[in-house]
Amino acid sequence: MENLNVMVVDDEPGIRSGVSRILRNFTVSYPFMDADIGFNLIEVGTGEEAIEKIKTEKIEIVLLDNKLPGIHGTEVLEYININNPDILVMMITSYASLELAVKATNNGAYDFIPKPFTPQELKSALENVSKHLFLRGMTTKMNKEGKEVRYQFLSVLSHELKAPLNAIEGYLRIMQEKQAGEEIASYDQMIDRSLHRIKGMRNLIMDLLDLTKINLEKKTDKFQNVDIGEIAQLAIESINPYAIQKDVKITLINDKNITLNADPSDLEIVFNNLISNAVKYNVDGGKVKVTLKSENKNIKIVVEDSGIGLSKEETDDLFKEFFRVKNEQTKHITGSGLGLSIVKRVVDLYNGDVKIESKVGVGSTFVVTLPI
Ligand SMILES: Nc1ncnc2c1ncn2[C@@H]1O[C@H](COP(=O)(O)OP(=O)(O)OP(=O)(O)O)[C@@H](O)[C@H]1O
Ligand SMILES: [Mg+2]
Repeated sequence: MENLNVMVVDDEPGIRSGVSRILRNFTVSYPFMDADIGFNLIEVGTGEEAIEKIKTEKIEIVLLDNKLPGIHGTEVLEYININNPDILVMMITSYASLELAVKATNNGAYDFIPKPFTPQELKSALENVSKHLFLRGMTTKMNKEGKEVRYQFLSVLSHELKAPLNAIEGYLRIMQEKQAGEEIASYDQMIDRSLHRIKGMRNLIMDLLDLTKINLEKKTDKFQNVDIGEIAQLAIESINPYAIQKDVKITLINDKNITLNADPSDLEIVFNNLISNAVKYNVDGGKVKVTLKSENKNIKIVVEDSGIGLSKEETDDLFKEFFRVKNEQTKHITGSGLGLSIVKRVVDLYNGDVKIESKVGVGSTFVVTLPI
């Protein structure tokens, strides 16, 4: 078991002994962690003592009261920000006022716990912090090992998740303070927007699951003779409800029975992403044509749409993670920008390639070639 050092800084002995009692037998575990995490507690009563301890001992988490007899909690926070920015600070504030919490988190506190807190509240707060520490340790390690790309990827990812969270948090705050009055209907739009952002986050997480799965190499035990036409048909059926809404017609052209030795779920990823893009970035009343061919020793999957199209510059970056075209037409379409990067990885895994031809305002054609 790994132990984290937690320092509680509070002039009320009752709070300190309370924290000590709660943490005595408390451990945190996650499915992706090898060992459980336990907590060592260090108790101090003033800000001055806290700073002394920080200088001499290795401390990972500080539970910090704001109202202290000598220097204030905010000054301790400032000291930590400058000298030991790796320490995660949780403010303990007696009045859970929005203002103080926002100010503290703006000034570098990781989170805050309102006082008085229940054992469960403290435990879940610590669970959160230790998970954060664990993930941070992981990214640092990856970075040190020279895997800068992955580090970059994680930074982009955290950014992508942070934006919707901030938006949802903002809406919840407005509702909490009833800023739009007592009438529940006044909040409908905020609720809709929040749900919309949550949906976006969920899609991003699903995409990531696909990505991590693909990183685990080719799993040949899942390989079987797959009927490509069948997979294409399934993908079309699952996207059709959305296509009907947009009045987009999807047709499949598949004259022969084409099979490939592959993991069917890999092929599903390719079809789902290409066809859903072809519908998503199409115009009302548009068309999508999916053609399957076998030529020489290759299988060709062609997904052609009559949609908004892409410029030459845009197609250059299309297969990069998180790349999305931002313009008037795409402004209201949600997506993570991961779909095509995942398609590219799958296709690479099968030693194939994916090409695109596109014209703004006319449409795009994606051609995937997979060797048999
Ligand atoms: N058929 C298409 N026509 C026009 N633009 C497209 C088409 N397919 C993709 N794009 C552009 O390429 C970008 C990246 O596509 P990708 O599928 O990787 O991500 P996404 O659709 O934004 O999100 P996700 O697929 O994860 O939901 C899109 O945001 C869009 O701007
Ligand atoms: Mg997509």
